[in-house]
Parts: sequence; structure tokens; C-alpha cells
Amino acid sequence: MKIETVCILGGSGFVGGHLVNRLGAAGMRCSVATRYPHRHRELQLGGVRVVPVSSFDRYELTRLFEGYDAVVNLIGILNNGFGGHFETVHVGIAAAVAESCKAAGVKRLLHMSALNADPDGPSEYLRSKGRAEEAVWRAATRDVGVTMFRPSVIFGPDDSFFNRFASLLRLPGPLPLACPEARFAPVYVGDVAEAFLRSARSSHTIGEVYELCGPQVMTLREVVAYTAERLGMRKKIIGLGAGLSRLQARVLGWLPGKPFSMDNFLSLQKPSVCEINGLLRLDITPTPLDAVMSPELSGRRMRARYTWYRKLLPGDFLGK
Ligand SMILES: NC(=O)c1ccc[n+]([C@@H]2O[C@H](COP(=O)([O-])OP(=O)(O)OC[C@H]3O[C@@H](n4cnc5c(N)ncnc54)[C@H](OP(=O)(O)O)[C@@H]3O)[C@@H](O)[C@H]2O)c1
Repeated sequence: MKIETVCILGGSGFVGGHLVNRLGAAGMRCSVATRYPHRHRELQLGGVRVVPVSSFDRYELTRLFEGYDAVVNLIGILNNGFGGHFETVHVGIAAAVAESCKAAGVKRLLHMSALNADPDGPSEYLRSKGRAEEAVWRAATRDVGVTMFRPSVIFGPDDSFFNRFASLLRLPGPLPLACPEARFAPVYVGDVAEAFLRSARSSHTIGEVYELCGPQVMTLREVVAYTAERLGMRKKIIGLGAGLSRLQARVLGWLPGKPFSMDNFLSLQKPSVCEINGLLRLDITPTPLDAVMSPELSGRRMRARYTWYRKLLPGDFLGK
């Protein structure tokens, strides 16, 4: 089946921005469903339809999805808190999305999970991602062609992973780093978008789960050292042992925005590395960090500040 129209939930975020561009360039018409349409007017300038969504119940989603060939679910959070709870945001919404695809006659559903998603995983983030996968398979497989993606950490010009460390590195003094030996295979956001596009275009990808990894496996210490080098900084990085890493997670988990939490600490106990890289299965050559990160790392600061600032302001002030 040819996919011409796509509704993207969570399309206003980091991955969503790149995906909308990639699908649009391939000739697909994209709509981004968001809780805050007034914050994403810039998407409309690019020809993207921005549609409001609020309750995420089956009734609302079924009406929303009518007439689309495919739905992409990118909705996700990193911590329980003011932004929502894992059970509601990951499991509840994913199940409602899958059931609503079926009710609305949508033929394809691309679901974003995470590497190591597992109902028996070490953290609530990974367990809820695992339960979400189960809920989607249960709800949708017979009538809707489902493809799932499990990326390692995703990098790109406007990511939050490398850029968060860039911000920390700019603080004075040495950097105390929790879980310095945790391992990742950072995957380029452009490759992730390409994987979604190729999957949407092929019926062979229905029923498949694609782990997505970049070409380099790095420890967290190497990630931070790499970031410092890109910024042209010399910085002392103090790797913390398990006890102090836990303590840091407990303390930072109390701060607004939870820069690091106990649940993040538990997620890091499992290497975020692919068994079989789905990019290769989709004939995509994984992009190395160096190809993307050098000029952009420093370019994100202004945009990040702007986005954060907008989130803090009430809608009225922003001309909602
Ligand atoms: N970035 C990574 O390194 C990485 C790695 C592995 C897996 N993933 C997964 O990839 C997906 C996209 O990641 P991302 O980095 O693009 O995330 P992001 O920039 O934080 O965007 C996530 C989107 O989810 C929506 N959202 C957040 N909380 C919500 C809530 N309580 N109810 C409904 N919608 C909510 C937001 O849409 P609105 O505010 O517009 O409604 C937002 O645009 C997520 O599922 C994430 O778990 C990401």
C-alpha cells in the first residue's frame, strides 16, 4: 500500500522535527498532533498540518486518525513527573493509538520504543516501554501493519543528550560523572528518520522490530570527553562509582526537570547497544558522530534556551 498521508504523534519533538522533514521531502503529507498547537506554528510554515490533541482517548484518536494511511507514535518521556507518568504516557497512549488505528482503518502504525525495552527491565522507563510494545502488538497486529523501532541514544544538532553534557561542561570546576562506564551506540537522528521512511514504504517491514544503533560504541565517559573535545575544552571528568552515582541520582532526581534520576541510573545498568543493527537490515549506512556533531554542538544553545523559555511561559503570553 502506498503511504501518502501520515499523522505523527509526538511530532513536535526532537525526532519528530527530523522525521517530518524526511517524510515531507519524500512526498508524504504530514500532520503533527500536539497538545500545544500554538507553540508549533513554525511547522505550518513548512506545509505541515498541526492538529490539536488533548485527551488521547480512543474516541478522540479514532476521529483524529480517520483518512490517514499511516500513524507514527513518537510520544515519550524520560521520567515520571510533571510531564506525565510512564504508565499513562507510554503504555496507555500506545494502546489507545493502536486500537484507534484499527477503528479508523489506518493500515500502518510505526511505533517508537527504546533499546532494552522489556516488561522485566531494570527501570520503570524500560519496563513501561516494554509493556507499551506488548499493548501495541495485542491491539493492532491483525488489522494494522505494525513496525517498531528501538533506538540507542539519538544524536543530532538539536539533541538533548550531547547538548546536555555540553551545558554541564560549561559549568566551572570538574565534572562529577555518574555511571561513567555505561555503554551506548549513539544513532544519528537522520538515520532514524530514514529507517521510518523505508519501513513505511515496504510491506516487508510489517511485524518487525528494528534496533537502531550508530557505528561507534562509547562509554558515557567517552561521550563526555568527545563533547569536551568538540567544544575545544579541557575539563577534568571525575567518574563516580556505583554508590556515589546512586547518591547523585537521588539528589538530582529532586531537582525540577530531573536532570538525572534513580530511574535513569537503573536504565544505564544495561548497555544500550544493538544485537543486530536494524539500520543495516534496512540498507542504511550508520552515520558516525564526526560527520554531524562538530559544527552543530555549539549551535544548539540559543534554540534550547528559546524552547525552554517558551515552555515556561503561559499560552496567553505567547498569543495562544
Ligand atoms: N532522543 C533519544 O535519544 C531517544 C532514545 C531512545 C528512544 N527515544 C524515544 O523516541 C521518541 C521521541 O523522542 P524525542 O527525543 O523526539 O522526544 P521529545 O523531543 O521529548 O518529544 C516527545 C514528544 O512527546 C510528546 N509528549 C511528551 N509528554 C507527553 C504527554 N504527557 N502526553 C502526550 N504527549 C507527550 C510531546 O508532544 P507535545 O508536547 O507537542 O504534545 C513531544 O513532542 C520517544 O518515544 C522516546 O522515548 C528517544
